[in-house]
Amino acid sequence: MIGDLWRWTRDPIPLLTERAATAPVFELRLWRRGIVGYRPEWNRAVLGDLAAFRAAGSLSGLTPYLSGGVVHADVPEHDERRRVLNPHFHNRSLAALLGRLDEVAARYAPPAEFEALEWAADVVRRLLNAAFFGGRVPDRLLRSFLVPLHRPMPHPLLPRPRLFRRVDEHIAAVLADPPPGTLAAALTGLPDAVEEIRVALAAGYDTTTHSLAWAAWQLAGAPEWRTPDALPAVLDEVLRLYPAGWIGSRVAAADVSVAGADIPAGTLVLYSPYLTHRDPELWPDPGAFRPERFTATGPARPAWGFLPFSAGRRTCLGAHLARAMLGAALRPCLTGRLSQVSGDPTPQAGLTLRPRGPLRMIRPPR
Ligand code: HEM
Repeated sequence: MIGDLWRWTRDPIPLLTERAATAPVFELRLWRRGIVGYRPEWNRAVLGDLAAFRAAGSLSGLTPYLSGGVVHADVPEHDERRRVLNPHFHNRSLAALLGRLDEVAARYAPPAEFEALEWAADVVRRLLNAAFFGGRVPDRLLRSFLVPLHRPMPHPLLPRPRLFRRVDEHIAAVLADPPPGTLAAALTGLPDAVEEIRVALAAGYDTTTHSLAWAAWQLAGAPEWRTPDALPAVLDEVLRLYPAGWIGSRVAAADVSVAGADIPAGTLVLYSPYLTHRDPELWPDPGAFRPERFTATGPARPAWGFLPFSAGRRTCLGAHLARAMLGAALRPCLTGRLSQVSGDPTPQAGLTLRPRGPLRMIRPPR
């Protein structure tokens, strides 16, 4: 293979880290030319102009899981879809779901000995089922649908038309008679509700799963942070160190110039929350786990320098839902003992960033 494609497919994080140390904007020779930046100025330009930097033709189009719905729409259609979807994903709309999430999380709290990635995948799948469908989609079907996202490349990229059709049928059946208080009840009747929900499940599953596994691991290693009040700062620090959405891409719609780089129309333009979050100019001692960065008395967050959920009008639709699920799943881990046994939390990039794992932990009964 030529250029950077070999390293990109095998292990892109060291490649990105090396190049980022040489320049704030750099080129990658993949199957097509890509240009990557990670400084706030770059993020603001690329994420702030939806007409110049478009989703069509970007990396999400490579996987059937993400090549639909709002994820792959461009302006003006994109903004119209978000206008309709956003209100249902705000904190105040989700408030009605919190009790249901806590119940599910308590039922699937980690056992005495557990592997964090396995536990997290199970509880997140059940939380998504509860939030969207009141638990009405068969767990086995949801599992078959979501599991390929965890498998190594090229699994997440392969088309699965029959499986997707079955999932769509179940989503449609719930939308026809949705349990009150669920996201299905809120979204029923919206255009393309089935596709939007299917894509949201895929976008929300392994991202939340991997963040949860890292958060449990870090909490076990730092008992002083295991309090309900500290949880938001812990989550922000986990999302900074390990942004599941480690790379995002757009395609330049016209010739543009950003941060001194000339970008011809049609170029793949990448931004990287991973690189931004580990830039020592923005985050002192960036590799250290320090939730105090995010406490009320900590320093201000750098503008366009903290983007675990991206930023601008394409910011993650499910950011509040993700935080609600993470909070619910972690609350049972705040009481009693929780310890790391053995594991490898090193970030490894696939479709999303994940801990290399396994992450073996114990939570002895009190
Ligand atoms: C910790 C968990 C999560 C993380 C780290 C995360 C991260 C992200 C990021 C970085 C983007 C922007 C991608 C891009 O620029 O191309 C995004 C978009 C999106 N996310 Fe999330 N996400 C999470 C959970 C969720 C959940 C639970 C949902 C379920 C509703 C969801 C639904 C979406 C959707 C629909 C988009 C596309 C938004 C648009 O293009 O307008 N995400 N997410």
